[in-house]
Amino acid sequence: MERITIAIDGYSSCGKSTLAKALAKALDYVYVDSGAMYRAVTLYFLNHQVDIRDEEAVKLALKNISISFKNIKGKNTTFLNQQNVEHEIRTMQVSNFVSPVAAIPIVRRKVVRQQREMGKEKGIVMDGRDIGTVVFKDAELKIFLVADPDIRAERRYRELLAKGLDVERKAIKANLLERDHIDSTRADSPLRQAEDAIVIDNSFLNEQEQLSKALILAQERINSKARL
Ligand code: CDP
Repeated sequence: MERITIAIDGYSSCGKSTLAKALAKALDYVYVDSGAMYRAVTLYFLNHQVDIRDEEAVKLALKNISISFKNIKGKNTTFLNQQNVEHEIRTMQVSNFVSPVAAIPIVRRKVVRQQREMGKEKGIVMDGRDIGTVVFKDAELKIFLVADPDIRAERRYRELLAKGLDVERKAIKANLLERDHIDSTRADSPLRQAEDAIVIDNSFLNEQEQLSKALILAQERINSKARL
């Protein structure tokens, strides 16, 4: 069967990774959480007190960073320099610092290079902010996921609570809005809908419903590629 590239972009915490994981599972594709890579870089910067205004310090730090993913007990897990950081990269401390880090062009250059390498063989679902506009401009299927901000904040609150993190609803919503602002106004690869992206509003869709919509789109693209 023909394999395609699927790019899923959208604002913070709108269910991109839930959809991307489910799609990858249904199609037997590789799933890549591009946000986890920016979170891993951010964790390294925090742990090593890298001053993000100091370009030389940032460059040096980037040389010492290696990010990889492994499937651990069926879960996509992020590794920073061979250490499992999946839990640490989801903390509010990282969430509060990730958008300024992800706005730095040399950080993006390193991360995007690795993302393109991972997507070379197609058969990939990647979610993020710039996947359809920058990383895989030629992706056969681009989805731009949107959801009401209050619903997004509530979902993230429950997700973090379930992971045992000590969080406050208000702080979560403030963080989502702050990241949306920084991510969509930065100069390098701002978050925006690609012209050829299909918008799905999942405010009132459950996981199965959003998956069904996306699978129909994916199947259409796979079929039309097979006809070429
Ligand atoms: O899951 P959530 O929506 O909270 O965010 P994420 O996907 O883990 O991404 C964390 C942050 O990384 C975003 O707020 C962006 O600042 C940055 N990011 C990016 O700049 N480009 C991407 N392709 C993915 C994430």
